[in-house]
Amino acid sequence: MKVAILGAGAMGSAIAYGLIESGYVPGDLKISNPHHDKLEPFKKFGVSVTTDNKEACKEADLVIIAVKPWILPDVIKEIKDTLNYNCQAVSVVAAGVTGDDLKGWFDYNGYCPTISLSMPNTAVRCRESMTFAVPVTGNDRNPDVELYRRLGEVKVIEERLLPAATSLASCGIAYALRYVRAATEGGVQLGFRASEAQDIVVQTVKGAASLLSCGEHAELEIDKVTTPGGLTIKGLNAMEKAGFTQAVIKGLMPG
Ligand SMILES: NC(=O)c1ccc[n+]([C@@H]2O[C@H](COP(=O)([O-])OP(=O)(O)OC[C@H]3O[C@@H](n4cnc5c(N)ncnc54)[C@H](OP(=O)(O)O)[C@@H]3O)[C@@H](O)[C@H]2O)c1
Repeated sequence: MKVAILGAGAMGSAIAYGLIESGYVPGDLKISNPHHDKLEPFKKFGVSVTTDNKEACKEADLVIIAVKPWILPDVIKEIKDTLNYNCQAVSVVAAGVTGDDLKGWFDYNGYCPTISLSMPNTAVRCRESMTFAVPVTGNDRNPDVELYRRLGEVKVIEERLLPAATSLASCGIAYALRYVRAATEGGVQLGFRASEAQDIVVQTVKGAASLLSCGEHAELEIDKVTTPGGLTIKGLNAMEKAGFTQAVIKGLMPG
């Protein structure tokens, strides 16, 4: 599958790096961006780079558009005439855009290409993304689903769940890292150097996530480390008294 990525910012670049690291043939990847400086790092991998979106789309089986939402209508207008709706699919990475918006912008005398709205997170860079795909046209076998599987986990969801998915998994990267930072600061207060404390917290979080991927329920794993009257339960109760669970739930709610 030949892929074009329009927009080499945070998301577009992360997707490109993730693909390259996954063993994707760099020659099958084209990236476009208005400013050349963001394209320069990709040249050494053998990726084709261009400042021309139309040029990038040529021969691509899948076109990923990763630009800011307010720029999206102009980019679609620009490439619309170049796309072959019969054989080129589009995956749009943009928060706050609806399937109906996309159908309207791509409409060509009542025709649309295969379109997905996709919501990866920045962990595509290290192939550990939690990505959501909404088939706007087509179905759950749209080509972006296969591509994002190379970059982590993918869930095909209904569009109504997209805001929730964005909060939980895209914003969720920042929320999880804020826990890492808070725990690291605690580790420094306990006597570790900051870098050591961060390494310890990261490995602990990885371990906790791995325990869950063995199929256990979070609360069961918590029970295993809470000795009656022991340190862990005192720590958990102190965190709850400070509003931990409520703070997390409140942070996840939109608006
Ligand atoms: N960051 C996240 O965690 C995240 C997660 C999920 C979804 N998203 C969505 O991903 C999209 C991109 O976000 P981002 O964080 O990657 O933004 P970004 O870092 O600002 O990147 C956007 C890129 O688009 C380029 N661009 C501007 N005009 C263009 C055009 N006409 N044609 C092609 N490229 C153009 C910009 O180039 P110049 O800067 O060189 O002008 C920039 O490199 C957004 O719609 C956002 O909602 C982001």
